[in-house]
Amino acid sequence: MQFNKYIYGYLIYVILLSGVLFINSSCSSGEGKEILSIFFDGVPQDEGENQTADSLLVRNDNKPGENKRRVVEQIFFHPPFQSRECDNCHNLQAGNDLIEQPPELCYTCHDDFKNQFAVLHGPVASGYCTQCHNPHSSKIKKLLVKKGQQLCLSCHEKQDVFKNEVHEDIDDTNCTDCHNPHGGDDRFLL
Ligand code: HEC
Ligand code: HEC
Ligand code: HEC
Ligand code: HEC
Ligand code: HEC
Repeated sequence: MQFNKYIYGYLIYVILLSGVLFINSSCSSGEGKEILSIFFDGVPQDEGENQTADSLLVRNDNKPGENKRRVVEQIFFHPPFQSRECDNCHNLQAGNDLIEQPPELCYTCHDDFKNQFAVLHGPVASGYCTQCHNPHSSKIKKLLVKKGQQLCLSCHEKQDVFKNEVHEDIDDTNCTDCHNPHGGDDRFLL
């Protein structure tokens, strides 16, 4: 009887101890933020860490039984978003509305493209900056929402573009190797 009591006591001790270890290893709050950042791009990183414009997001991507492997994804942040100056763009008193609509909103900090180009690209002239840029952050450089030709072919029909003989041999060359995405001297934005 005496021996059984000892065994039960020991078992309970082991179960409690492993519980404590499990909680410690799986629930550090920093890791929670990282996981949130993967699902919702809008969660800024903790103050004090990742203060550079190009931050690294580290994700543990192990499959069961696999050796430790870490996947590193780079996230580019728009400086006023990263420094949490949300009120540069949002009216926090009025339900988070924008203080102004793009392009005026963007031109409070960036030079007006009207002053740089004789001809503006359609969506730039109409202020659809966020059709190409995420105002907060992106995994693609320059806060772009799509990579390479995909960005342009989300509005321009691929067939129409490749029908033109100037585009016959471009393969997967970036459209922006020849065209300026914002404007140019003439309508072809070269
Ligand atoms: C440089 C300007 C700018 C800053 C700074 C900014 N936002 Fe935004 N935000 C926008 C714009 C523009 C939109 C609308 C996006 C669209 O047109 O789809 C937006 C949309 C949103 C939305 C709606 C959901 C979504 O993601 O589209 C939320 C929520 C939001 N912002 C939160 C924030 C928070 C929180 C901060 C600060 C950490 C912040 N924003 C900083 C410009 C900004
Ligand atoms: C409160 C000031 C502010 C506002 C408003 C603002 N920006 Fe910016 N933006 C910056 C700063 C600062 C930088 C970094 C320096 C630079 O490139 O000019 C930047 C950089 C950028 C970049 C380049 C990012 C890179 O990785 O090089 C893009 C693209 C951009 N902004 C788009 C926008 C768009 C689109 C809007 C409107 C929805 C906007 N910005 C509104 C301050 C602002
Ligand atoms: C058709 C897509 C598109 C639209 C619309 C667009 N941009 Fe861009 N923008 C780009 C691309 C692509 C780049 C990257 C150019 C490069 O890498 O040289 C860029 C770069 C930028 C930069 C970084 C500075 C630079 O030249 O590298 C800023 C700032 C910027 N855009 C602001 C804006 C603002 C403000 C608007 C709206 C008035 C806007 N953009 C509309 C595609 C677009
Ligand atoms: C949000 C939609 C949209 C995106 C994304 C977009 N465009 Fe455009 N683009 C337009 C509109 C609208 C026009 C004006 C069409 C017109 O006037 O017939 C235009 C016009 C043009 C023209 C001039 C065409 C002409 O016949 O005068 C060129 C060149 C062009 N875009 C290149 C690009 C490139 C390169 C990209 C990618 C960096 C791009 N576009 C992304 C909407 C878009
Ligand atoms: C090798 C350089 C080059 C590349 C890469 C390129 N273009 Fe062009 N593009 C041109 C030239 C040059 C013209 C002027 C055509 C003319 O004079 O008829 C043009 C004209 C255009 C026009 C207006 C005429 C038309 O065919 O409707 C559009 C739209 C256009 N390009 C979109 C794109 C898109 C989208 C991409 C990427 C998929 C792209 N271009 C890639 C050189 C290029």
